[in-house]
Amino acid sequence: MRLVVNGHPVEAAPRPGQCLRTLLRELGWFGVKKGCDAGDCGACTVHVDGAPVHSCLYPAFRAEDAAVTTIEGLADLDPEPGLHPMQQAFLDAQGFQCGFCTAGMVMTAAALDQSQTHDLASALKGNLCRCTGYRAIADAVAGVAHCHADAAGGAVGRNVPAPAGPAIVTGAARYTMDVAPEGELAGLLHMKILRAEVPHARIRAIDAAAARALPGVVAVLTYEDAPERLFSTARHHHATDDVDDTRVLDPVIRHIGQRVAAVVAENEAVAEAACALIRVDYEPLPAVFDPEAAMEEGAPALHGEKGAESRIADPARNIVARLHSETGNVAAGFAAADVIHEASYQSQRLQHAHLETHGAIGWLDGDGRLTLRSSTQTPFLTRDALADLMGLPRDKVRVFAARVGGGFGGKQEMLVEDIVGLAVLKTGRPVKLEYTRAEQFAASTSRHPMRVKVKLGATRDGRLTAIQLDMLLNTGAYGNHAVGVLFHGAGECVALYRCPNKRVDGRSVYTNSLPSGAFRGYGLSQTIFAVESALDELAHRLGIDPFALRRLNVITPDDHAGHDDVEIGSYGLDQCLDAVEAGLRGPLPALGPDWAVGRGMAAAMIDTIPPRGHVGQTRLRLTAEGRYELATGTAEFGNGTTTVHAQIAAGALNAAIAQISIRQSDTDHVTHDTGAYGSTGTVVAGAATQRAAEALALMIRQAAGARLGVPPEACRIAGDDVIAGEARLPLGDLAPLEAVGEANGTPRSVAFNVQGFEVAVNRRTGEIRILRSVHGADAGTVINPLQCRGQVEGGVAQAIGAALYEELRMDGQGAVSNPSFRGYHIPAFADVPVTQVFFADTHDRIGPLGAKSMSESPFNPVAPALANAIFDATGVRLRATPFTADRLYTFLIEKEPA
Ligand code: FES
Repeated sequence: MRLVVNGHPVEAAPRPGQCLRTLLRELGWFGVKKGCDAGDCGACTVHVDGAPVHSCLYPAFRAEDAAVTTIEGLADLDPEPGLHPMQQAFLDAQGFQCGFCTAGMVMTAAALDQSQTHDLASALKGNLCRCTGYRAIADAVAGVAHCHADAAGGAVGRNVPAPAGPAIVTGAARYTMDVAPEGELAGLLHMKILRAEVPHARIRAIDAAAARALPGVVAVLTYEDAPERLFSTARHHHATDDVDDTRVLDPVIRHIGQRVAAVVAENEAVAEAACALIRVDYEPLPAVFDPEAAMEEGAPALHGEKGAESRIADPARNIVARLHSETGNVAAGFAAADVIHEASYQSQRLQHAHLETHGAIGWLDGDGRLTLRSSTQTPFLTRDALADLMGLPRDKVRVFAARVGGGFGGKQEMLVEDIVGLAVLKTGRPVKLEYTRAEQFAASTSRHPMRVKVKLGATRDGRLTAIQLDMLLNTGAYGNHAVGVLFHGAGECVALYRCPNKRVDGRSVYTNSLPSGAFRGYGLSQTIFAVESALDELAHRLGIDPFALRRLNVITPDDHAGHDDVEIGSYGLDQCLDAVEAGLRGPLPALGPDWAVGRGMAAAMIDTIPPRGHVGQTRLRLTAEGRYELATGTAEFGNGTTTVHAQIAAGALNAAIAQISIRQSDTDHVTHDTGAYGSTGTVVAGAATQRAAEALALMIRQAAGARLGVPPEACRIAGDDVIAGEARLPLGDLAPLEAVGEANGTPRSVAFNVQGFEVAVNRRTGEIRILRSVHGADAGTVINPLQCRGQVEGGVAQAIGAALYEELRMDGQGAVSNPSFRGYHIPAFADVPVTQVFFADTHDRIGPLGAKSMSESPFNPVAPALANAIFDATGVRLRATPFTADRLYTFLIEKEPA
């Protein structure tokens, strides 16, 4: 058939059943993204004869004789040279973070007529964004420009635009799968995974003869092909922090969705067909799904055969890790209390739902090195783990990330690279594995479901005398992040309060369900929901205002903030509390007899860096053209590190942002980087960049001084020159010069977040409407206010979904029963209120240029602030998330029978 794509006549022969999305990508139009392949997310939106369509639902043959426009051709539709006005608007407002949704979002927005732009909630209902919280997108469509023009030096504190912006709005940005099968990727093979449909079983035999005989199948991998070595899919600076309980392919199945076999074939369809031909003979084993039951005598032990080398705390009782810590005397603290509040709080299983699913492409490079292009937050740690697993020296493995389409902790995990690496080594050919959205939901990782019992003691005037927590984590079938989430979750939620007597106990427990993993907040969102809800309950019992109760008990700048290497480098909690209280002030609106209105708040603290070391390295080189090449290990996945690093370097070198080009997240570029997790992109990797830039600035002044015969102090860098008095030397004349900066993540500081809501609850239906959302954030010096505001808005939006309706539901056998965006609803444009964001005015003495982290933490106080507002409105206390309308309705009916 014939069609015209972006003005180019094309002859194509679509396969039976092929959709337009895959056809366009096969033709090389990589701006057309895959987010769901079900018409739910809109990342694949293109225009067919001028009308926007979801190309994943559009049969390719229907495009015969049509004019198809993708994001790459949008600008050509505009008579003016340059970008299409909507592309320019997204650039000016920076209406993106990771940018994976942006092409589809721009294509939909570009097709809107004037009347539709006034109702974006309807007009954009078919396009999902997981990063931004939609405010920046609304600004873009409204034509609000936020970004500052580039300027030499002084870049810190300005809304410098993301360097990748032009590539993102034109579809030129390259994500993991955006690469043609040519050059080293010629002959690319496709992998599909056969997944278990039983929760617990031993594989007696696998008959793959029919699959292997299918034309086009190159290899079928089973546990017999996999290394015996155990590892953890979690990635941390110290690999021994996690338990080794996982095999690439394991003869024991421990959850529905676990890998059974991998088929590698000439195309996806053959690989999928071959999976269906594999016969597996299982010996069923008893399964357990409840963490309390899993610890009981006689419960099936999921990893009972593992020895001490796996570092599992108690394999016989399914306890992966346990924790006990106590300061002061908790019993005495409760004895001294006038009021004791005790209750249990439950947080549910969540999916990260980054729009780019997990995936990797592997091959052997010209030197025979195993090379992985992967959607990862941790290329260096993944390289190290792969090398160990495959028995290769580290310099024989390269892992790099292209632009990453969102992560939220989900990509601090080696979920695909191991099996792709194995297939490359077995076949000697390039191999690609890309998760479907269903696999993303049902076979990757989730937030830890957590039950937290809280006991608080206080004097009549509101002073805390004792805090006690008991945490129970359902870590699922494997212990990836089970240890870290337990320990991190137990920390800052109680360290925020200056109570003398504290005790925390916790256990992470195996069950035959989907593995839990790292998720934004890393355990704190669940424990902060519990503690901040409990404090609100205590405040109501004492008749004390919730803000006043916090002010009475929170740590002060002179207090100790928890771990030995944590210091309060700056303190803006008081400003955050004041700002949120002021933002909620005023009379409550009256919405009619069916609506109850109320307000609630919650506070949160987070250490700015994970404990026990986090290494960043930056290499900065001056070129003969007077430009700077900056190589850093940390990954850009929508967190804005590329922009921040450019700003930090530009500040130290008094350079224009345009003078700095950045290469990131490639094990060939720098020696080591722990990875882009724990909100470290600015405070660790950024500190390394600051040190490299300061060192290079000194080298430049020294070299210029020697050349001009003046002392280095007499030389000043100004853009692409060095000036000393009347003398002026082009920077490029001093090239090459190179400096390396390193940071090791210690000491650490703390960041603060306070969230407030005003809500209306419909007494007859349980519907919750957010009337006001106010967020106070202490991020130290805010290097890029627009980006940082976006992190807060995105975090709050994601947390609103988590608090109100998101839930990865499991059936009775531990299978995920809602593995799609239609079944697992994430916030759409219409669901997210505008959040008023306030930044405290502080300068951190530890962070680079006074900055602190602000990626994960805005998520953490949202659920308790909503629960507290709902209680204030209705008198109903919700102690389990999500607060769905039907659940709230049952409580409302109990309270006030119809
Ligand atoms: Fe929208 Fe990342 S920017 S999904």
